[in-house]
Amino acid sequence: MGVMIYQISENRQIPLFALSFYLLTLSMMNTMTYSRILGIGSYLPTKRITNDDLAQMVETSDEWISQRTGIKARHIADDSEKTSDLALKAAQNALSQANIHPNEIDLIIVGTVTGDYAFPSTACLVQQKLGITNRCPAFDIQAACAGFMYAMTMADAYIRGGLAKKALIIGAETLSRIVNWQDRNTCVLFGDGAGAAVLGASDEPGIIHSKMCADGAFESVLHMNGRMNNGEWTGAKFINMDGQAVFKFAVKSLAEVAQETLNEANFPAEKIDWLVPHQANSRIIDATAEHLGLPREKVILTVAEHANTSAASIPLALDEGIRTGKIQRGQHLLLEGIGGGFAWGAMLLRY
Ligand code: ACO
Repeated sequence: MGVMIYQISENRQIPLFALSFYLLTLSMMNTMTYSRILGIGSYLPTKRITNDDLAQMVETSDEWISQRTGIKARHIADDSEKTSDLALKAAQNALSQANIHPNEIDLIIVGTVTGDYAFPSTACLVQQKLGITNRCPAFDIQAACAGFMYAMTMADAYIRGGLAKKALIIGAETLSRIVNWQDRNTCVLFGDGAGAAVLGASDEPGIIHSKMCADGAFESVLHMNGRMNNGEWTGAKFINMDGQAVFKFAVKSLAEVAQETLNEANFPAEKIDWLVPHQANSRIIDATAEHLGLPREKVILTVAEHANTSAASIPLALDEGIRTGKIQRGQHLLLEGIGGGFAWGAMLLRY
């Protein structure tokens, strides 16, 4: 029996079995690239304000705040601490957990609504403070409380597309600077903090699927018109919120996006090991968990101690879950959250 020949060009031929072997080898080399969490870190300012402390400042009570939100305390940056300082400490903790030298990082994204300046970005400030000299891209994104997930989704796309190998993703806020401490409707809800993740390219699945959404039609329900200048806000100073409208939209949209994310990934809710939600209000979190059929024991809850730290809340919760030994390598996590915009989303990942 003769050998079958494949004609490459007018005067070049190779045996068909050699071509098949070549294509098979190519396909085996071309394995899928994922992004995996290599390390997580966080930072909370030391100053802590309890509900009882707040009751000395505005007409409120521990009972009202606890029942309506699940919040018991919040941490507040001192006057010398800017968002980039909080971000730096969280980043250092994440890099040390990942055992990665700062100069190995080739992408930095910070999610924040309280960056130090209009520009340079907080990501650029963190790059400089970490002593990174490799000129890696660094930029901020603004998706309010969904900022960390938006940033993770973007970094995942960079890594899958081969544009980065080790990304530093940070959510950091000093919301205490944009809270009206005379307004009991809002001041009881928020806190300061930062959380960070190092994502690395991997052959093994890490981030499995994410779905980010936005609807700008809800500007009037939750907004803050103003800008940061050297750590101080100028223009309209405070967060403006219709709490009940936010609550209703959050409960509906988070249940939907969590379910859609699982459906699109063809992943059953019962296989989720931990729900790691944005920590705004324990009643919103309970509603999402209930919709997914997840018991409270499978939810990482930090809202009591952290309050709502916007873009920092999910990585702060992740870090707490890992440090307390609840979240283990190989487990499946569902992150979800919503914030001003509205901007919201959910992300399924294997830790
Ligand atoms: N202490 C005591 N009483 C208060 C306080 C307070 N801190 N704040 C409001 N009240 C009063 C109100 O004035 C009102 O009094 P009234 O009936 O005499 O007018 C009463 O309590 C009830 O107010 P509601 O706004 O109806 O209270 P509600 O049960 O809706 O709870 C809350 C308010 C906690 C803000 C809730 O709507 C909520 O959590 N919404 C979501 C908001 C949120 O999470 N925002 C964060 C940004 S977006 C995000 O991260 C998801």
